[in-house]
Amino acid sequence: MGDPSGWMSTSGPGPTAANDVADRGEPQVARMYDYYLGGKDHFEADRIAAEEVLRTAPNSAKFARANRYFLQMVVEYLAREQGVDQFLDIGTGIPTRPNTHQVAQYHRPHARVLYTDNDPIVMTYAEALMTSTREGRVDYIEADLRRPQDILGHPCLAGPEPVFDLERPVAVCAVAIFHFVTDEHRPGELLRTIMEPMPSGSFLVLSHTTEDFDDAMKEAAEVYRRRKLPVQLRSDAEVEEIVSEAGLELLEPGVRPLNRWWPGRPARLAPIPLYSDAEASCYGLLARKP
Ligand SMILES: C[S@@+](CC[C@H](N)C(=O)[O-])C[C@H]1O[C@@H](n2cnc3c(N)ncnc32)[C@H](O)[C@@H]1O
Repeated sequence: MGDPSGWMSTSGPGPTAANDVADRGEPQVARMYDYYLGGKDHFEADRIAAEEVLRTAPNSAKFARANRYFLQMVVEYLAREQGVDQFLDIGTGIPTRPNTHQVAQYHRPHARVLYTDNDPIVMTYAEALMTSTREGRVDYIEADLRRPQDILGHPCLAGPEPVFDLERPVAVCAVAIFHFVTDEHRPGELLRTIMEPMPSGSFLVLSHTTEDFDDAMKEAAEVYRRRKLPVQLRSDAEVEEIVSEAGLELLEPGVRPLNRWWPGRPARLAPIPLYSDAEASCYGLLARKP
């Protein structure tokens, strides 16, 4: 029989710790995303909301998989081919293996990863996330991207024992989070602020959902909004504007449907994608701070 709270989990700290922090009556985006991915860490309210999204836009489960694949591929590319060993992952989500630090530390065992998310339930998984290699370091802070100083001013970044050496490039991962940052929060300015202390040569990895390939995405966004979860889908031009407002240079292949995004390759030379544009319904990009 399931837990009476409606909690389902096969991993992590279990229902007691999660129940302490969770508002079980309201769905949360991290737990809904976990549901799309076939995870077990969600409550009934999350399942009901996620099922409504899936009925409205059945591609949402494929979006989540395509997005995870994109995140893992770019982190691997940065660690293996660009020598990046410092990652700030904003909007961590409920752990889904392989997580950013597992990919980065596979290629660079001494890599340092700082996770941040504004959902307290993700914090309950911090222990699971913080399993670093001996040579590396993994930390987690609870903070909201819309208040960037909470991230930048945190001791993990500001010291006395900061995670990163800001003399060397950092890859900032903002994967599937900016569609939760509506224009009233000035996403370009937010991104510029976050990138401010990062040295020249630092990277931004970003993915962002869109309605450009599947009209059902508009209705799916309404399902979130009806539950007081603000979502703003954006076109490729709008995503590009956020990046350029932040003063970053787009790298090849630019802003592309992430199912067709391959590092450093023009789209026409990319392998056959696993998902269609409509199934992914998400743009991906890699940019660099000049
Ligand atoms: C769709 S999940 C993406 C998880 C992971 N980045 C990935 O791509 O697989 C979005 C995550 O962003 C977090 N999030 C949403 N808005 C946020 C904000 N304003 N500040 C920090 N985290 C936020 C949610 O709690 C959730 O864990």
